[in-house]
Amino acid sequence: MTEENEKNSHINKAQFNLSLEINEEGEYLDSVSKKSTLLELLAQQENIEIIKQNIVSDKVFKIEGNEGVFEFFYLLKGRIKYLDNDKILNPGDYITIRNLKQQIYFKTLSEVDLIYVTNTPIFSNKQEEIKSLLELNEEIEARDQQTRDHCRRLQDLSRRTGEELNLSQDKLFSLIFASFLHDIGKANVPVEILQKPAKLSPEEWSIVKKHPEKGKKMILEHMTSSFFERVADIILQHHENYDGTGYPHGLAGDEIMIEAQILSVVDSYDAMSHRRPYQEAKNRKEVLAEIKRCKGQQFAPKVVDAFLKAEERFIAEGINPQELI
Ligand SMILES: [Fe+2]
Ligand SMILES: [Fe+2]
Repeated sequence: MTEENEKNSHINKAQFNLSLEINEEGEYLDSVSKKSTLLELLAQQENIEIIKQNIVSDKVFKIEGNEGVFEFFYLLKGRIKYLDNDKILNPGDYITIRNLKQQIYFKTLSEVDLIYVTNTPIFSNKQEEIKSLLELNEEIEARDQQTRDHCRRLQDLSRRTGEELNLSQDKLFSLIFASFLHDIGKANVPVEILQKPAKLSPEEWSIVKKHPEKGKKMILEHMTSSFFERVADIILQHHENYDGTGYPHGLAGDEIMIEAQILSVVDSYDAMSHRRPYQEAKNRKEVLAEIKRCKGQQFAPKVVDAFLKAEERFIAEGINPQELI
């Protein structure tokens, strides 16, 4: 490119409100990332945003329509599945949404790149929400390696158990988020207590037991969208037991949200499968025997049945629960 051309590659004639911008691959106005997605704002004009989005494989994501909302997605790379009718979209396929007052769910079948055009300032909203999530996530990760790894592992088994129970996409989505963030309330518990290699004193135990309530509060402080209210409630209930012996409220049976019933089983399975400061890891056979023993007591029977199927598939795929992160 000559010097003259270079100067002209950005011609901004403000008096006529004309502009020409030529950008190269990899350039963007703003970007935000979290573990499963990267958003790059390529261009914007008033309320129109053009975004390039990358999403990792095997992620459920949703598009939230609304009156007056126009959205367009063009798939550049990878494959996604529309979860309502299992239609597969390939590169070059595109989706247009106008005035649709519902949430639509897709799942990535591989790593995906797409171009996303919207007439609502989604980018700034998303950006805020993702930033909040990142902040929360950092709080977990700053605590201890063990809690961090535990939270990551839970997402996969929770989702599989939820699918086994034919949970709606809405519930699956909130379950996945809650699984990841369920122990966020432990961010306030001193590390000496979390990593104490002995039985906790009654005072220490009462501090640990507050983590579901603290977790709910933290989620509500960070998040604005109503979606996270449900996530916050699942977190609040993840130590409730089917027979009413759990905490903080002693809820029983179906008073406990289905997502929290699932999270409770998966949480215990993972905790028993891994070494804790106060307890050696059990082998898979011992862990499953313990889960079955607690069926109808700590755990909802139908959730245990679904979990056992999901766990079997999980193992059949060669995933070792003691290694998975
Ligand atoms: Fe917990
Ligand atoms: Fe946990």
